[in-house]
Amino acid sequence: MASARNRAQAGTSVPVAFATSTVSRRFVPAESSALLTPPEVSAKAITADFDRRPIRDLLKHLAADPDAAMEYLFARLFAGHPLMRALFPHGMTQTRVAVFGELAGIIAGLDDQERTEQVLARLAVDHRKFGVRDKHYEPFFDAVFATAEHAAGPAWTREMATAWRSALDWFGSVMAAAAADDADEQPAWWTGEIVQHDRRTETVAVLTIRPDRPLSYVAGQYVQVQTLRWPRIWRSYSIANAPRANGLLDIHVRAVPGGMVSTALVSHCATGDIVLLGAARGQMRVPDDPARDLVCVAGGTGLAPLKAITEAVVGAAGQGKRRGITLYAGVRRSSDLYDLRDLETLRLAYPSLTVIPVAEHEVGFAGRVGRLPDVVWTHESFRDCDVYIAGPVGLISRTVQVLSRRVPADRVHHDPIQALRLARRPPRLDDRSRPAASPASP
Ligand SMILES: Cc1cc2nc3c(=O)[nH]c(=O)nc-3n(C[C@H](O)[C@H](O)[C@H](O)COP(=O)(O)OP(=O)(O)OC[C@H]3O[C@@H](n4cnc5c(N)ncnc54)[C@H](O)[C@@H]3O)c2cc1C
Ligand code: HEM
Repeated sequence: MASARNRAQAGTSVPVAFATSTVSRRFVPAESSALLTPPEVSAKAITADFDRRPIRDLLKHLAADPDAAMEYLFARLFAGHPLMRALFPHGMTQTRVAVFGELAGIIAGLDDQERTEQVLARLAVDHRKFGVRDKHYEPFFDAVFATAEHAAGPAWTREMATAWRSALDWFGSVMAAAAADDADEQPAWWTGEIVQHDRRTETVAVLTIRPDRPLSYVAGQYVQVQTLRWPRIWRSYSIANAPRANGLLDIHVRAVPGGMVSTALVSHCATGDIVLLGAARGQMRVPDDPARDLVCVAGGTGLAPLKAITEAVVGAAGQGKRRGITLYAGVRRSSDLYDLRDLETLRLAYPSLTVIPVAEHEVGFAGRVGRLPDVVWTHESFRDCDVYIAGPVGLISRTVQVLSRRVPADRVHHDPIQALRLARRPPRLDDRSRPAASPASP
C-alpha cells in the first residue's frame, strides 16, 4: 500500500536548530517558527478500527532486541530519505532509546483509544519543534512498518501487515491533525534571549530568558531548551516562576559532570545569548481546591517548579484563607542553597509560607540535617495537603515511597519518573529487562 503512494524525497528545508557553525547570531531570531507555514493535514480517510492483537504480538519481537530494531528503523528512514537525517541530532543513542520506549508504550496501551490519541497528539505537538512536518509522517511510518516486518521475519503474515499498516496510518493522521491544530495556536519553537545569567554556585546558575513572543504555561510546567553550542539537542528545564506580565522566564540549571546542555547553560552562556525554547509541557499544577495546603519537597534545582507553584499560590491569595505552604529545600551542603534570599522575600510577603532548608550532612547547620525524604517523613501532618516533589529521580521515588503510608497517591504530584530517569541515566537500549514505558510517560 505504501509503495503506491507518492514517495518523493521528504527533505527538510526547516532549520530547527542553530546550524553548527554557519548560522550567525543575527540569523537566529529570524528563524523563529512563527515564519513557518503550518503543516498540511493529510486527506486520507483513516480509522482506529483495526486488529490490535497482531501489533501487540509483534512488540515481543521488537522488544527482544530494541537496539537492533531502532537501528534498522533509522537506517531505513535515512537510506530512503537522506535529507531527513538533518532533523535529528548527531548522536542518536538517546533518540533511539526514547523512540523505542514511547512506541512500545503506545503499542502496549493501544486498547485505550482515547489515551492513545492523547499521547500521539502530545507527541505531534512536541515534534513541531524538531521541524517535523506533514510530509515526514509517511516516510517515518513506512520505516516503522519495514522494521516490524523485518523483526517478525518468517512470522510476518498478511494479517500482521494489514494491522500494522492501518495502525500506522491512524497514528500519522492523528499526529498530523494535532500538529495542524497546534500550529493555529502557537509557534513550533521560540527564540529566547538570556537577559540575566546569575551564577549562584560553582555548578548552579539562574537564567532569566525573554521569549521572542508570548510562551504560555502554568506554574509547575517545564520547557525544553536548545543551546547554540549543541544543535538539535533539547533538554528539559522547569520554569521557576509563575507567569509574569513581562513574559520573562527563570530556569535553574545545575551543570552535571560531562553534561552537554547543562554545562553550556551554566558555564558557556551569558547575558545576550540566544537559546531555543519548546512549548511548555508537564502535568504538575497548583491544586484546584483552595482549602488544601501544600507541602513542597525540592531537591537541588527541583526547587524551580516548586518555587513557581509557591509564587502562583501566593499571587492568587485573596482575602480568604491563606493556604499554608511548607517548602523543604534539600541540598547536600548548606553552601549549595542557591536561592534562600528570594525565598525569604517570598516568605516576608506571605507569612503562611514556611521554608525549611535541609542539608544532607553538615555539623552545626542551622536548618534540618538529614536525607530529605526522612526529614519530610517527620512533617507534622499531611491532613488536607497536596504534596509536590521535584528533583533527582531517586529523591522523588524515595519520597513517594516514604510518604505512601501517610498521603493518598492522588495527592502526591511530580514530573514523570520515566522522563527523569532517561535524563539521568546514560541511555542504553541493551537493558532488555526494562519494561516498556507506559503511555502515560511524558
Ligand atoms: C521534566 C524534567 C525537568 C527537569 N528540570 C530541570 C531543572 O529545572 N534544572 C536542571 O538543572 N535540570 C533539569 N532536568 C534535567 C535536564 O533536563 C538535563 O537532563 C540535565 O541538565 C543534564 O543534561 P545535559 O545535556 O547537561 O547532560 P547529558 O549530556 O544528557 O548527560 C551527560 C552525562 O551526565 C549524566 N547525568 C545526566 N543528568 C544527571 C544528573 N542530574 N546528575 C548527574 N549526572 C547526570 C548522564 O548520565 C550522562 O552520563 C529536568 C529533566 C526533566 C526530565
Ligand atoms: C508514533 C510515532 C513517533 C514516536 C513514538 C516518536 C517518539 C519520539 C520520542 C520519544 C522522541 C524524543 C523526544 C524528546 O526527547 O523530547 C522523538 C524525537 C524525535 N522524533 Fe519522533 N516519534 C514519532 C514520530 C516521528 C515522526 C513521524 C518523525 C518525523 C521525522 C519523528 C522525528 C523525530 C525527531 C526529529 C526527533 C528529535 C530527535 C532528538 O532530539 O533526539 N518522530 N520521537
